[in-house]
Amino acid sequence: MYTGMLHLHNLLRYAIVILLIWAVVKSFIGWFGKKEYTAADNKVSLFLLISAHLQLLIGLVLYFMSPVVETALSDFGGAMKDPVLRFWGVEHIASMVIGIAIITLGRIMAKKGKTDATKFRRQAIYFLLAMVLIFSAIPWPWSAISRAWF
Ligand code: HEM
Repeated sequence: MYTGMLHLHNLLRYAIVILLIWAVVKSFIGWFGKKEYTAADNKVSLFLLISAHLQLLIGLVLYFMSPVVETALSDFGGAMKDPVLRFWGVEHIASMVIGIAIITLGRIMAKKGKTDATKFRRQAIYFLLAMVLIFSAIPWPWSAISRAWF
């Protein structure tokens, strides 16, 4: 069960990375290009929200099953001095939960926008912020906390 969830969580990362980049680029093009906010724009933001919330659920389940998190939480003080244990015990969950909250807020704020320009501007700012936060907490193969691609 743990391994299956970890694989699913790993795979869903790619959907989120692609959707985030897509949503940010589309929002900036819409904002600066003074475009109309269409049903397609709403769909990208909706798919991003759904995959982010699904990832949050899987992540929460993993958090209570993960051996590395268990080690981190068993000696929290010691774990804070170890970059790998600190990452899995605190940094990953905190950055991702905040990032997903910003995506959610961005979608709500964009929906409340009265003009297409406001919708695009709000999406662009919130989603870019979430992207920076989420990308900084992904254990990329080239990062200090590296994990394999698959
Ligand atoms: C956009 C959100 C997220 C992304 C892109 C993401 C990405 C990843 C990636 C790429 C891995 C490594 C998977 C592997 O080694 O096969 C991972 C592991 C993990 N993530 Fe996330 N994650 C996200 C959100 C969350 C959240 C919200 C939580 C907790 C609530 C969480 C908890 C975990 C845990 C516990 C592990 C496994 C540690 C282990 O046992 O090795 N993740 N995540």
